[in-house]
This record gives sequence, structure tokens and C-alpha cells, in this order.
Amino acid sequence: MASGPLILAVDQGTSSTKALLVDGRGAVVARGSAPLTESHPRPGWVEQSPDELWESVRRAVAACVDPALAGRVAGVAFSTQRESLVLWERDTGRPVRPLVSWQDQRTAADCAELAAEGAGDLVRAVSGMPLDPMFSALKGSWLLDACDPDRRRSLAGELCLGTVDSWLLSRFGGEHVVEIGNASRTQLMDVSTGDWDERLLALFGIPRAVLPRVVPSCGPFPAARGLPPLPDGVPVLAVLGDSHAAMFAHCGWRPGVVKVTYGTGSSVMAIGTPAGTIGAPGQTLGTASQTIGAPGRSIGTSGRTMGPGPAEAWDVGQADGLCRSVAWDVGDGPVPAAEGNIRATGRTLIWLAELFRTTPDALLAELDACDDDAPEGVRFVPAFGGLGAPWWEPEAQALLTGLTLGTRRTQLVAAALEAVAFQVEDVVEAVERVAGPVEVLLADGGLTRSDRMMRLQSDLSGRAVARSGEHDLSCLGAACAAGLAAGLWTREGLEDRPRPADTFRPAVASDDRDARRAAWREAVGRSLPRR
Ligand code: G3P
Repeated sequence: MASGPLILAVDQGTSSTKALLVDGRGAVVARGSAPLTESHPRPGWVEQSPDELWESVRRAVAACVDPALAGRVAGVAFSTQRESLVLWERDTGRPVRPLVSWQDQRTAADCAELAAEGAGDLVRAVSGMPLDPMFSALKGSWLLDACDPDRRRSLAGELCLGTVDSWLLSRFGGEHVVEIGNASRTQLMDVSTGDWDERLLALFGIPRAVLPRVVPSCGPFPAARGLPPLPDGVPVLAVLGDSHAAMFAHCGWRPGVVKVTYGTGSSVMAIGTPAGTIGAPGQTLGTASQTIGAPGRSIGTSGRTMGPGPAEAWDVGQADGLCRSVAWDVGDGPVPAAEGNIRATGRTLIWLAELFRTTPDALLAELDACDDDAPEGVRFVPAFGGLGAPWWEPEAQALLTGLTLGTRRTQLVAAALEAVAFQVEDVVEAVERVAGPVEVLLADGGLTRSDRMMRLQSDLSGRAVARSGEHDLSCLGAACAAGLAAGLWTREGLEDRPRPADTFRPAVASDDRDARRAAWREAVGRSLPRR
């Protein structure tokens, strides 16, 4: 381990919290983690305990940081699950209700109602997101309707609403703040100004007084407290959304880079798109193909003007079911991102494992051990909570087709893995239509541990897949941003550092791929609601 300052990075995710200690060369020198639970009090509801989240952060940090090294920690970084929402009392810091998870579907009917009233265009144009229960806005409306129906307490400043980064930072005291990338996923922010939008606040019935102040990804944030063995007062140098942090760790700030994070769900992300390459020349894309941060444009959060940087002259369209958001702002202005979110990828295997009372790893090992591992006509559309990008169809139904009396569970697992790969490829194609040719997918996240998954993705996408050698990439990305803020390294230094990866290349004929794809599309068609 290099002597000198260390960065402690914490990734607060849906199923666990992880912590990494990173030295001045960017090498990981220690790790810790703490598992988390979620509850499903009603069909479609997914909740977590905000206190358990905070405790898991404390446990992961304690497991990671040797007390003898605690004094060398120069800064803390966070990457966090996005869209999930917490409501707490400003004075006591006590959560008023359980966290409403990004996976939660309780607002599906409200979403459909708003869409029927024609609100979808405004929401999409301003926030960059389609109306969908995944995003925070309607979760916020629901929480306030449940706890402050006349909004009296909200307007009096007694309540705080926040994403997970905002909640964790509130444990340190100080001002109620949210990092801009996380804020951009709430559906309440104008993605072109970086500030809450009054029209969206009015539409969703959320008073500005209950919301945090939006700040750049390098703060200022309150200093860390209550994270033993760290001494109180270590600065929080960077906060990023988890998917954004993974992109940062891939050094994905250059054009043409597409990353896929295989988590509970999956995120396919590209940073902006070159202006003029979207669609045919002169083509209008949906309601809001908008340049974020064109030169000279003022950014709401800080009143700064975005200087030259990756976002300059980049255009992020909204065709093909992609979201516009802010990837990060690490000091040179907000960087726009195009992203497609898939609801169930890793979750699909977890569901199968729960059904068969085993673990996802055991299912994958069983598949690896069997000779006959093709799905044999079994198709699985894991639309457990509807379908996300590029379909955005909350009423789609999960389905398994092609079952016979001879169907074995290995075929179900094989079909689940194909469903992951096909869903990812559907979004990559959408990104490609916006961003131009995509040759390599930069892959990270839990399912990348499976060689089979990586081979399958490459075969079914017909593209190379470069798998990151670091499993906790979101955590590392947050550390990279913090080290940049602390002056431990430069952007060029990050690009030059060795990033272990192995590459999988397609090995199936294109007609085979096309036939399997056509069968997948047919199955997706059946899962969509008849209208
Ligand atoms: O958008 C939801 C995402 O941020 C959750 O990520 O890693 O907790 O599944 P993860």
C-alpha cells in the first residue's frame, strides 16, 4: 500500500452497502460490506428502512477501515442508489415513513392518470424522463399525501424529502442538500438548468420548501460524522449516483463510450451525443431534443456558467425511450447523460433462486455444469414491475412461454440470462440510434462475474463486451471523483491508470442471433398490454 492519503468510498445500493479504501495510486487497499433487507408490504410496494441504510453504511465503513489507517483518510466519497425517496423530520432527523424504493410500483395508477391528462410531454421535456413510477416525483407526492396531506408541515419547513444521498448526508448535520446527478433522476429538476422546476413541483404537489438544495457532485457537502473508526470532520469530497459513478470509473466521459451496469436492474449509459448526429439531419426528436449547457448557458445550482468541457456542444435526445439526466458535475459544469434503465436483470435470477429455494450463484453453477444449456424454446420476459427502457410500459406482464413437461430449471435459468442480454441489447440499440455506432460495451456489476453472461451478451448483441476487473465499480468511481477533487490525481492520470478488463467477442452467426432476437421480440409483444 502506498503511504500518504487515502480515500474512503461508500456505495449505498439496494441490496447492500459496500466500502472501499483507495490509496493515492487509485489501488483498492481494503473492502467492507453490509447486507440490506427490503420489504414488500403490498403487491408492487418495495420499501427499505432509512435507519437500516444508515446503519449499513456505518457497518460497511467499520468493516473496511482498520483503525490504524483511519487517520490517513483524507476524504469520503459516496455513490448511491437513485430515485428511492425518504421523508424525515428536519428537527429530529427521524424518518416519517419507510423509504419508497426505486423499484416500487405503488404510483403506477397515478402515473397512468397523469399520462391520460396529457402531462407526459411537459414532464419529459423538462425533466428528461418519461412518466414512470420508477422516478421519485410521484413517490414524493405519495409520501406527502400520506404524512402531510395539506402540505402545512412541508411549507413550514418541518419535513425534508430527499434521495438516498440527501438522507445519508443529513446524518452529518448541516444543510439539506442533494447532488445534481441524483437530483436529475427525481423528475422534479429541469435538466437544462440544474434547478427544481416550478411547473413540475406544482404538477406533483411538492413544495420547494421540502426539497434539498441542489449542489455539484463535489459539493460543498457537510463533513462526515458518526462513521467510526473515522474521526469526525473528514470532508465529503464527492457524491455520485451509482450508475453515474460506474461510468466515471470507466473514464466514460469521452464520446462513443457505452457502459452497462448489471445490478438488480441494469443501466445502459452514454455521455451526451455529438450535436448533429442524432437521427437524420434536420430531424426533430420528440418533444425535447435539447442542448444541455450550450456554451455560455447559466447553470441554476451554482449560478456558474458552464465552461468548455465534455458537455459543450453535446446534444442529448429523447427518442427511443432513453432518459436525459446529469451524469455529474465535478467542477467543470454539469455533464449530460443519455440512459436506458432496465427494471429486472439480476433481480430475474434472484426471483428464480427464491422460487427454487437456492441462490443465484448456485443456479449459475448448475447451468455451467450441464451439457445441454440452451433454453430450448423457453422465453422469459421478466416484466415483474412492467418494462422499463426502451418500452416504458408499466402494465407489461412478466411471462414465461414455451414450457413443456420436459422443461428443466436449467432452461429457465438459460432463458433468464438471455432475457438479460436481450433487454440490454434493446437499450444499446436505442443508444446507438442517438449516439452513433457502439462497438464495445463496457460492463460492470454483479452479473459480470459470470463468463456465460458475458459470452451471451456478446453473442446476442454482436458486439465486443469489455468486462471490468473491479466488481465494485460504482464505489471506485466515487473514489475517482473524490481523488480528483482532492488533487490526488488528474483526469488524464485516471485515463492512463491500468484498468483491468477482459474482452468477450461474438461467436454466433448473425442469422442465429437474428432468429433468437425475433423470438424475444415476439415474447415481449405478448407481455405488453392489449389496448
Ligand atoms: O436507478 C436505480 C439504481 O440506482 C439502483 O442501483 O445497484 O442499487 O441496483 P442498485
